[in-house]
Amino acid sequence: MTSTDTRPQTGTDLAFPPGFVFGAATAAYQIEGAVDVDGRGPSIWDIFSHTPGRTHLGHTGDVAVEHHARYREDVALMRELGLSAYRFSVSWSRVLPEGTGRVEQRGLDFYRRLVDELLGAGVDPWLTMYHWDLPQALQDRGGWADRDTAHRFAEYADVLHGALGDRVTHWSTLNEPMCSALLGHLSGQHAPGLQDPVAAARATHHLLLAHGLGTRVLRDRGATSLGLTLNFTPMTPATDSPADVDAARRCDGQQNRMFLLPAVTGAYPADVVADLAAAGAPLPVEDGDLEVIAAPLDWLGVNYYFSSVVRDTGAPTGTASSFIGAGCIEDVDPVGPTTTMGWGIDAPAFTSLLTWIGSVAPGLPLVVTENGSAWPDEVSPDGAVHDPERVAYLHDHLAAVTDAIALGADVRGYFAWSLLDNYEWARGYDQRFGIVHVDHDTQVRTPKDSALAYAEVLRRHR
Ligand code: NOJ
Repeated sequence: MTSTDTRPQTGTDLAFPPGFVFGAATAAYQIEGAVDVDGRGPSIWDIFSHTPGRTHLGHTGDVAVEHHARYREDVALMRELGLSAYRFSVSWSRVLPEGTGRVEQRGLDFYRRLVDELLGAGVDPWLTMYHWDLPQALQDRGGWADRDTAHRFAEYADVLHGALGDRVTHWSTLNEPMCSALLGHLSGQHAPGLQDPVAAARATHHLLLAHGLGTRVLRDRGATSLGLTLNFTPMTPATDSPADVDAARRCDGQQNRMFLLPAVTGAYPADVVADLAAAGAPLPVEDGDLEVIAAPLDWLGVNYYFSSVVRDTGAPTGTASSFIGAGCIEDVDPVGPTTTMGWGIDAPAFTSLLTWIGSVAPGLPLVVTENGSAWPDEVSPDGAVHDPERVAYLHDHLAAVTDAIALGADVRGYFAWSLLDNYEWARGYDQRFGIVHVDHDTQVRTPKDSALAYAEVLRRHR
């Protein structure tokens, strides 16, 4: 925002329903570091990030932002900002170093200490069980392409709820299974780095099955606030040519409907199932699976960052080259300016997305579990971090949420991505999503202007 900008400061003009949850989110591998501490086993991201050529400048999460050591300082920051909630993920291989069997008590103890610190600070913990860091030992047994991994996830759910169910109310099974399945197994941009359409289809189904089996375990153990977190990219065809319209359908099907529909309606989208079968990558569905996958939820987590304009590139469907960055989809003209990720900013699409999800899953409360933007932030000579683009993005997307609520969407909360600058997966540390700046040399945390603006929203809401 420039000094000539006459828009109101973030939040001063926004009204949210009573009880609306305001938080910030992170994920284990992106912030914790301490990868060799207290018996933690390796995850697929340790192996992938240490493989030459896989990540930007070879960056790894070995150190990340040292949250494992600095969690008290980070919780104090949350309290200062007035967050009512914090969404974090648990590292499966900290708790079960081999992914199954032997439980590492020191891993569980870390999360108990973190949760107790949060509760003591008046910040409600929202726990995500799986944010992309599969124990490598399970990958060695076939990973998500193998059905047994879904059962190992249910075992993990049982262990985790046994340790934390007395103090954590809000549980999400998976974060963005689309990315685990397709970035991990089709485009190869993420761990485990495969480009294998058959494995991608199998991973898609087994991730969703894991969600259903895990949900069943948590429900049986008495959990009352259960969700699944999905990411959505609204797709618009570049032209009204049949080829572009069909490309938009395919991308929307593959990335959005393929994960939402089975979870909330108990059926995969028929067009995507047909595309996959035609591409020789069928879904390995067994009797009863869809019933498991559609286990009732208490809320759906919605992650939103950008929309896409899609043009058909002529690449064959169902193959690695038909996915993001390589083929069927191309941002020919991002709506508005782009962030340092190259993502187009499109707040109105967020409103439409939330109302669309509300229409597909009527009666299911929605929680925005991630929303944010990356910018080239630096600490100024005055000691502050001025991030006017993020302040504007935050304002416009919070306004988009209030617009969706006004249109009838049942949105109950908003989590900014991210609390801290962190390890942006294959893009490394250069992409800064935090509302709090982290100096990656010294680990010093500095709340950015956006954090202060967000704190003001929260203060006014209270
Ligand atoms: C979604 C993912 O859940 C998160 O890990 C990632 O950092 C953000 N998107 C930004 O790309």
